[in-house]
Amino acid sequence: MNLSLPATDHSVPGDSTVRVQLDDRSYDIEISSGKVERFADSVTRAIPDLSHALVIFDEAVKEPWAAALSAALASRSDVLRISSTSVASGESSKSIDEYDRLLQWVLAEGGDRKSVVFAVGGGVIGDLAGFVAASFARGLRFVQIPTTLLAMVDSSVGGKTGINLPTAKNMVGAFWQPSLVWIDSHVLSTLPDRSYLSGLAEVVKYGVIDDADFFSWLEVNAVGLVKRDAPSIRYAIEKSCQSKARVVGEDERETSGRRAILNYGHTFAHAIEATCGYGTLLHGEAVSIGMQMAARLALAMGLAQPDLLERQTQLLTSCRLPVVLPDANPDEMLPVMMKDKKVAHGKLRFILPKRIGAVSLVGDVDEKLVREVIQQSR
Ligand code: GLY
Repeated sequence: MNLSLPATDHSVPGDSTVRVQLDDRSYDIEISSGKVERFADSVTRAIPDLSHALVIFDEAVKEPWAAALSAALASRSDVLRISSTSVASGESSKSIDEYDRLLQWVLAEGGDRKSVVFAVGGGVIGDLAGFVAASFARGLRFVQIPTTLLAMVDSSVGGKTGINLPTAKNMVGAFWQPSLVWIDSHVLSTLPDRSYLSGLAEVVKYGVIDDADFFSWLEVNAVGLVKRDAPSIRYAIEKSCQSKARVVGEDERETSGRRAILNYGHTFAHAIEATCGYGTLLHGEAVSIGMQMAARLALAMGLAQPDLLERQTQLLTSCRLPVVLPDANPDEMLPVMMKDKKVAHGKLRFILPKRIGAVSLVGDVDEKLVREVIQQSR
């Protein structure tokens, strides 16, 4: 197996395109680095009749990023108007109040069915601006421009949009596919270390759930990824997006169970986030520990062999991600897990690995085992 960077995978050196195949809702994920001048051309290909752009950006990426993208759009003579507004960084912006403010803003800017929303930021902006696009005037086209690793490899792809209710994350939303996902990995060079590394947890996830060769590549190239080696990052984003696109193409609306595999480690992770207090751990850090708990559960149920847990532990550790949670408390985590969207009629269900590259949805899991693996992960 060749574990070096396969340069021949790329039509233009350093650039690649992954197609999300969804009939008339198909779209490209374009991945490049330091090519902001190409943005306008990419948008023209995806949305030839763009006339009014509604740019919604995270305040943290205004300068120079959102400003440069707006300037690129303004260079097109057919783009008549560019409206832009910033959103405060952080999960609290995914609220009904902020959603309401953005709808009023789109209205005040003269938005109509031909306007196009551009979401520039991490997962919060993508979800929020995507839901504005999904719901204003029964649906506007939109473009995702993710600026965090986590958003590049996961939340910007697949059309999940939405906001939080005060006591329920992601409870209101819609499946609404973007017309284009435009990724410039150069923007990651300014991301704080913790945020960048936490995105690697979702990258490792794709290796475990879908792509054993990619997992092996990650084992060899983790050091380069941690050091933010640009070609390695681009390749990891491309492979992650290929997996995500494949899964979304097979089960767009999470009806067959196939898309649920993307939630590997997430039932534990959501309980970790809720019980440790949101913000104590970053989402990717909680996912890393959650994948460890899920792998231990697979072992305890005789579904997987010990080397799976060993390899996953080693890779996550190489990515500088946490693999244990000293404060993990099964008495606090279990009630949260019982409320998870994957609980069916009071029975706990988990995405569990069978081997590297293959997982399955396992129902009716014994609560006692779940408690044990939480204890083992402290
Ligand atoms: N992040 C899980 C999904 O897109 O389905």
